[in-house]
Amino acid sequence: MKIAQGAPGARILAFGHYQPANVVTNDDLAKTIDTNDEWIQSRVGIAERRLASPEETEIDLAVHAGGKALAASGLPAADIDLVIVATCTMESQIPNAAGRVATRLGIAAPGAFDVNAACAGFCYALSAAADAVRAGSARNVLVVGTEKFSHWLDWTDRSTAVIFADGAGAVVVGPSDVPRVGPVVWGSEGDKSDAIIVKDRRSFLHQEGQTVFRWATTSLHPVARSACERAGIDPSELAAFVPHQANLRIIESIARKIGADNAVIARDIVLAGNTSAASIPMALSRMIERGEVPSGGLALLLGFGAGLTYAAQVVELP
Ligand code: UT7
Repeated sequence: MKIAQGAPGARILAFGHYQPANVVTNDDLAKTIDTNDEWIQSRVGIAERRLASPEETEIDLAVHAGGKALAASGLPAADIDLVIVATCTMESQIPNAAGRVATRLGIAAPGAFDVNAACAGFCYALSAAADAVRAGSARNVLVVGTEKFSHWLDWTDRSTAVIFADGAGAVVVGPSDVPRVGPVVWGSEGDKSDAIIVKDRRSFLHQEGQTVFRWATTSLHPVARSACERAGIDPSELAAFVPHQANLRIIESIARKIGADNAVIARDIVLAGNTSAASIPMALSRMIERGEVPSGGLALLLGFGAGLTYAAQVVELP
């Protein structure tokens, strides 16, 4: 067999993000749940989050974010061969999100599949996209992280209702002469899968917060360091550290442990809450929009969550 090769490397061409219009503050939540702004800000770091309207679906959020990334890439829809959607909050499991997002964006007949690795999903999907470009399976790939967590929450459970939120972030991945998406370092701990779970169709999200907190603050900094090693860089060379936005205390603890002394640390959770697979592309897209990170700078991404799954890679910013 004479195998046609893909590109020598892959790179992120452009970003896009979308948040629903409805801003919900901690004081808003305290009107119906036994909680308060001081607890949420000091324990989790969230000041406000956005929640989708009942009519707005996770597909709608993905279309907004994906459309922005596609427009920013300058590519016509016809140049996208593959659409990957990372999500764990699809209300309807069949059919998948990717095909519907592609159709709404005018991308005709691409490969289309969803990835469920929960809050690590975007990093898994980005890795699959970069591999597809390098292998010659796709020229350009649209990758979207989208979540409508609000319909999987028990709004009387203060341990989850104040944390999770809705949003979407997207990237277009295309070919590059040299690698600009580093090797992924990924893994899972299925023995801890009960720690974050929606048991069945009639259940809401349940999280053993302290178990996950301990795991995140003790097990993940070696994964982040290892992603830097695999990319051939020292953490001091990073322009940005963009971990999953689960808890500001987790973000700051991991940042201290990896020694990314010159990096801007993503703290998108303050205004976005925990948007699971959307949190990393959304945070990075907003950092770029605010001009906080330079074009050509290196960003370390670290996703982690239900599964328990994790994944990290270094990317060069467009
Ligand atoms: O995105 C996927 C990955 N997920 C994560 O990484 C989440 C990791 N875990 C965490 O971020 C934290 O464990 C939480 C933010 C979920 C919880 O923070 P915590 O500091 O671990 O609080 P806790 O669960 O130990 O609860 C401490 C106290 C309890 O009261 P008592 O028993 O000490 O009287 C809770 O009942 O805080 C109480 N509490 C609240 N109080 C006010 C729990 N939720 C609330 C609330 N408002 N919303």
